[in-house]
Amino acid sequence: MKAKTAGASKTVMTDLVLPSETNPLNNLFGGELLARMDRAASIAARRHSRRIVVTASVNHVAFNRAIPLGSVVTVEAKVSRAFRTSMEVYIDVWIEDRESGERAKANEAIYTFVAVDETGRPVAIPEIVAETELEKERYKGALRRKQLSLVIAGKMKASEATELKALFV
Ligand SMILES: CC(C)(COP(=O)(O)OP(=O)(O)OC[C@H]1O[C@@H](n2cnc3c(N)ncnc32)[C@H](O)[C@@H]1OP(=O)(O)O)[C@@H](O)C(=O)NCCC(=O)NCCS
Repeated sequence: MKAKTAGASKTVMTDLVLPSETNPLNNLFGGELLARMDRAASIAARRHSRRIVVTASVNHVAFNRAIPLGSVVTVEAKVSRAFRTSMEVYIDVWIEDRESGERAKANEAIYTFVAVDETGRPVAIPEIVAETELEKERYKGALRRKQLSLVIAGKMKASEATELKALFV
């Protein structure tokens, strides 16, 4: 299977924050942002694998900055690393200043998707080629994050998480 670049999976979704999507402080409701990130990330995972993909895990979400009603929100998703059947997708969320048009980073998240066949069985996917400095950095940390996610999910023994252990020694 031929490796593909991380850039080839890049998915960008831009949308407004409407009143029905806000919390009592008139900021974007967290669950709405999670859904937007899941949608963009699943498209990125599908573009990389050209398979049916399912969300296996939400590994990290940082709601660093509130997103006010009326904001223009851009969600950018890219596969950072592919393993045998699973892939890590990194999501960056930006908001755009109405007057200057300048973009500011609001949030980021990391999801894991698994490529499956029509019966839901995991299937092998192409490897990822990281090109930019940021893609290389995210690629490098992805195995450690996969191990952490598996340990938390009870699917891997902490003693087997070699990359993770290396952080502490
Ligand atoms: C995700 C799913 C296909 C994994 O099935 P499984 O029987 O655990 O399959 P495996 O153990 O072979 O795991 C498949 C891959 O997922 C990875 N994986 C499974 N759980 C994971 C987790 N919590 N974190 C990170 N990776 C995980 C495994 O490491 C493996 O990766 P690899 O093949 O790249 O090494 C299965 O659990 C599923 O269908 N879940 C429901 C998905 C869904 O409906 N999502 C929408 C939520 S409503």
